[in-house]
Amino acid sequence: MTLLIKNGEIITADSRYTADILCEGGSITRIDHNIDAPAGAEVVDATGKYVFPGFIDPHTHIHLPFMGTFAKDNYETGTTAALCGGTTTLIDFVIPGKDEQPKDALQTWREQSEGKACSDYTYHMAITRFDDEVEAQLRDIVADGITSFKVFLAYKGAFGINDEELYRTLELAEELGVVVNAHCENAEMVAALQQKLFNAGKTGPEWHEPSRPVEVEAEGTRHFCRMLEVTGAEGYVVHLSCADALKEAVEAKMRGVNVHVESLIQHLLLDASYAERSDFEGAQFVMSPPLRTQRDMAALWAGFETGLVDTLGSDHAPFDTEQKEMGRGDFRKIPNGIPSLEDRVRMFYTHGVATGRVDLHKFVDVASTRPAQIFDLFPKKGTIQLGADADLVVYDPSYEGTISADTHHMNVDYNPFEGMTVRGRCDVVTVRGNIQVRDGEFVGEKGIGKLLKRPLSDAGE
Ligand code: URP
Ligand code: ZN
Ligand code: ZN
Repeated sequence: MTLLIKNGEIITADSRYTADILCEGGSITRIDHNIDAPAGAEVVDATGKYVFPGFIDPHTHIHLPFMGTFAKDNYETGTTAALCGGTTTLIDFVIPGKDEQPKDALQTWREQSEGKACSDYTYHMAITRFDDEVEAQLRDIVADGITSFKVFLAYKGAFGINDEELYRTLELAEELGVVVNAHCENAEMVAALQQKLFNAGKTGPEWHEPSRPVEVEAEGTRHFCRMLEVTGAEGYVVHLSCADALKEAVEAKMRGVNVHVESLIQHLLLDASYAERSDFEGAQFVMSPPLRTQRDMAALWAGFETGLVDTLGSDHAPFDTEQKEMGRGDFRKIPNGIPSLEDRVRMFYTHGVATGRVDLHKFVDVASTRPAQIFDLFPKKGTIQLGADADLVVYDPSYEGTISADTHHMNVDYNPFEGMTVRGRCDVVTVRGNIQVRDGEFVGEKGIGKLLKRPLSDAGE
């Protein structure tokens, strides 16, 4: 399909100008003034609108077997919701069971996604056990273009690994040159605190946060950063939620540790009081690390403003209200996760850009360019330039709407931002030149999303 986007204000991480963009064969082939439409081209008038590079969500759980159930989205619903919110590429986590081989888990995720995804996508490979056989398989998986790992320092007895396994994972990552994502909470401390609170009769969702206080996350973050320092591996702290953990990561950065920091839209906009809502409504706001204080939220915003936080993720993990009921009477059993894939970009625009807190370029950087650079997708993804994939978002900044589960596209029966105002709408969203969204609604072809194999590069360093 040939597509011509006319007169939009093109915004990248480091440039801003008005021009036309011609897309042919899935790529951007010309950027210029007054481009005449080739015969048969689809023309989009972007006058008065921004044109952003397609946004990249570095942290989603579309397929997620977790805590005795499965997250609610599938690749069709999840990527449809992503596109309606401007996300054209997402990175999901392949998470093997403790006794499962990595290649078998990868095969499961591929079966879930291939022919179903409507946006492009790729995977981080989680390591839930490390032994010689796992190591051999990981080498093949990296050679086949899945070039990032994930470890959980949390979730004792489930996904969590011990220090010996962590050390071996980081040594392998350093040798292969792959980046390691880490969920940084001290699993032993969480388990002990959970038991103590539960034994004291503190069973409701409001006790989830006290069972994983900021010290637990700061300790996990420091631990991971020190392990990176010893092994020389490149790391990425996922869903960093609080000032204390940010301090640990920043101190590591200052020491020269090669570590990146991701924070989430939930942690920027929602505080711990949401998990204290009555009648078990608080369970909708249970995730790990938990929602924190207004002070922590301010620290994260400052981290984005100053560049100490590198990327914006969603950690989309949708469990509906019926699934959350599994933890009534025992907060330890509430499936952890808050859906936010669809609203990540627009809510960050609304509360970051429209308030003047974060500039437009930083917004593009954290929600598109930096994830592409760190995870070896750049410059095909993450920017607007000749030869890049024609993944584009025509954004109408004058639109004002209200977030609601009644109108969202995620396959979950609540929205954590219900009733909040949102500024801007994704008028047109393209994936490799295919128009997938118009006026905020999916109009495209299902199943065209591609699994992106990622050759290693050093763009993120
Ligand atoms: O609560 C969360 N974050 N659920 C998803 C799994 C994870 O830890 O990222
Ligand atoms: Zn996590
Ligand atoms: Zn996650």
